[in-house]
Amino acid sequence: MRIIAGSARGIRLAAVPDGVRPTSDRVREAIFNSLGQFFDDGEVLDLYAGTGALGIEALSRGCEKATFVEKNAKVARVIRENLTRVQLADYGEVLRGDVMEATGRFVAEGRRYDLIFADPPYRMPLREIRGVLKRLMALLAPDGRVVFESGDPLATETIKNLKGVSRRYGGTVVTFFERTETTMNLAIYPGSFDPVTVGHLDIIQRASELYDHVVVAVGANLNKKPRLPAEERVGLIEKATTGFENVSVEVMEGLLVDFARERGARVIVKGLRVISDFESEFQQAQLNRRLYPDIETIYVMAVAEHSFLSSSAVREIASYGGEVRGLVPEEILDIVRESYVDRQAVASDKG
Ligand code: PNS
Repeated sequence: MRIIAGSARGIRLAAVPDGVRPTSDRVREAIFNSLGQFFDDGEVLDLYAGTGALGIEALSRGCEKATFVEKNAKVARVIRENLTRVQLADYGEVLRGDVMEATGRFVAEGRRYDLIFADPPYRMPLREIRGVLKRLMALLAPDGRVVFESGDPLATETIKNLKGVSRRYGGTVVTFFERTETTMNLAIYPGSFDPVTVGHLDIIQRASELYDHVVVAVGANLNKKPRLPAEERVGLIEKATTGFENVSVEVMEGLLVDFARERGARVIVKGLRVISDFESEFQQAQLNRRLYPDIETIYVMAVAEHSFLSSSAVREIASYGGEVRGLVPEEILDIVRESYVDRQAVASDKG
């Protein structure tokens, strides 16, 4: 086995002990032909790493850092030896241990990889494969790819909700998965936001740290008539969230579950302030799940100092020209004062 291209081209790798099935040079070459030959930086994760040939090949072709996870101590030593042979030891981290355990820790640490190779034992049960794949999608950087090797094509129920392209090379099937909006850990934060308050902004910020992307869904057809049209409410939230890279804001026309389904989202995030919120939230969560059984509503508790805060209170205060500073995001303070004031009410109050 030799490294095919890049800085370590032609260097022969140490062989792994008997019983370990390394990815053949031919399959490795085909994989890198599909991935594009060379890379500018990027982090690689090589799981069930064996000789480490895939991760080392990626380092040799320009990746910046590689993490190898291998259960077998002898095999892990071979990877270290191979990294030294190709003079890339400073760029590789070899962890001896269980893949599920290691990847669970990586998810908790918020690690992200541009390229993930996984070559698990071919006899691994489908349920386990599904668990591994789910983990890997959570570890994938936005433009990243997972390269998964198996003996047979992956069953449809195994790759449910994932978009993968498979190719067969002799006895090996290689499936490439990409991170797309539908495989992203996407959350929908719905509401009327009439107007958005600092309480809403706190929930958006906290949700943005938990999910890859948060779509704030601004209800257009609400039971109660909003003070501002949906597009203007969207504009206010956009102004208040310019600092968040992974937050977008959209008008939501129909049912929340349809909005979520169309975007491949399986999580609705809601804020919960006081116990009286619970009843209607409980009902909505139940109904939404009945309409879309794959959806889960996650509640984020409002911080204590926002428990009294609501859009209706802001509307009322603003309509009389009262002070709303500190209740709505500073960036939209002037617009809220201007848009929500009821000049007649202010005049009659003064008169
Ligand atoms: O800020 P609000 O008023 O609590 O938000 C209510 C909102 C927009 C989340 C809710 O009215 C909604 O989900 N509307 C979309 C229509 C829908 O799906 N209704 C069924 C909900 S059980």
